[in-house]
Amino acid sequence: MKILALIGSPRKNGNCDILVNKIAEKIDGEKEILFLNELNLNYCNACQACQKGDCIKDDDTRDIIAKIEDADLLIFSSPIYFGQVSAQAKTVIDRFYMISQNPERTLEGTKVIQVFTQANPSDAFDPYIKSMETMPFGFLGMEVIETISAKGAAGKGEGIEDALKKIEEMEI
Ligand SMILES: Cc1cc2nc3c(=O)[nH]c(=O)nc-3n(C[C@H](O)[C@H](O)[C@H](O)COP(=O)(O)O)c2cc1C
Repeated sequence: MKILALIGSPRKNGNCDILVNKIAEKIDGEKEILFLNELNLNYCNACQACQKGDCIKDDDTRDIIAKIEDADLLIFSSPIYFGQVSAQAKTVIDRFYMISQNPERTLEGTKVIQVFTQANPSDAFDPYIKSMETMPFGFLGMEVIETISAKGAAGKGEGIEDALKKIEEMEI
């Protein structure tokens, strides 16, 4: 099994980093973990070049999308920033356009484990997190098989005990 993990937080050793590594440790396979903040991520220009061939942007996001295409399992993580995913994570999501617009490319059947971290201890962002199963992942034919959501997680390594326990108990 090929596993690609994306850490959508800029914080090294932060909550996404810890949880993603914990999940990756649990699963056997060929693993690659990418720290998005260290990469050259550019925005979708809506130039529609992908409808006729390939994305014209020669950056790391282009390579990340190709790696997701090649993976069996995507571990997608992001901290909640102002109620949504981080800009780093959203930049990758928008670049999924190069797949959705090109009939020769697909992410159909790729499994996803999504990981979210938030300081707020409440369920306030649950509807948003749930919606990710449909858009972007379901829309692209990807299947979210597990969602890890750490609530009340403010400082690095704080408030992630329940999420770590869920990962330990997770059967993949
Ligand atoms: C710019 C910014 C915006 C944030 N917005 C929210 C928010 O809307 N709701 C919330 O609960 N936490 C918010 N947080 C807190 C982070 O989601 C939280 O600390 C998370 O655990 C960070 O994960 P990390 O350690 O992987 O970076 C915000 C933090 C930052 C830096």
